[in-house]
Amino acid sequence: MLKRITLLGPPGAGKGTQAKLIAQKSGLVHLSTGDILRDEVARSTELGRAAKGYMDRGDLVPDQLIIDMIRGRIAETDGFILDGFPRTVAQAEALSEITSIDSAVNIALTREDVIERLSSRRVCKECGRIYNLLFNPPVDKTHCDICGGELFQRADDQQAVIENRYDVYMKATAPLIDFYSTRGLLREVDGSQPTEAVLEAIMDYLSS
Ligand code: AP5
Repeated sequence: MLKRITLLGPPGAGKGTQAKLIAQKSGLVHLSTGDILRDEVARSTELGRAAKGYMDRGDLVPDQLIIDMIRGRIAETDGFILDGFPRTVAQAEALSEITSIDSAVNIALTREDVIERLSSRRVCKECGRIYNLLFNPPVDKTHCDICGGELFQRADDQQAVIENRYDVYMKATAPLIDFYSTRGLLREVDGSQPTEAVLEAIMDYLSS
């Protein structure tokens, strides 16, 4: 089975949803730069204070901060699934100096679907489970089905910020599709399918 994976795709494509499910099924370690940064912001660390403004606007945090943050975690992990890293060609080049990856899986989704999904996303404050009020609703709109934790809307899931995040993705991150394609490492998955179908497509590929 492939065990050093990165998930590409626009905001809202389902990278976090899929990475959590793949980690449960495969034992690979889920490394999400977005989750790590949100934790740094919540704890008001030096990195969190430096990153917050970029995140609130939907801009990318500077490459060197991200590379320094993630380098050790990747280096000490045998099998991992990266979610949200790399996000620029400079980050992809840095990653290739830290380790070789087995595959980049691009979860494709249109701009319209991105906006619809992110406007209706809710996340559990306690366990991090991801819901969607339209596509994967919790039984109670305000609390997690699993742990009962409070559900919240991410600060960057406001319409204007979502639109900027998509534009930033197109400019800075979409070029990674070519980057990994030319290296023979890219796999495309249609992210508009139901969650279980996307998962099956990715798992089939990872175990082939
Ligand atoms: P990050 O947290 O990585 O955000 P993102 O890439 O914009 O991705 P999202 O978490 O919004 O979406 P996702 O693809 O994980 O989708 P999800 O599974 O939640 O980054 C946040 C910020 O941190 C960035 O803007 C930047 O500032 C900074 N940052 C992070 N990494 C960085 C880096 N490397 N360099 C620089 N800056 C960085 O699903 C979305 C919704 O859709 C959910 O409601 C879900 O339930 C639903 N859904 C999922 N799959 C399906 C499906 N198949 N069908 C229907 N609904 C679905």
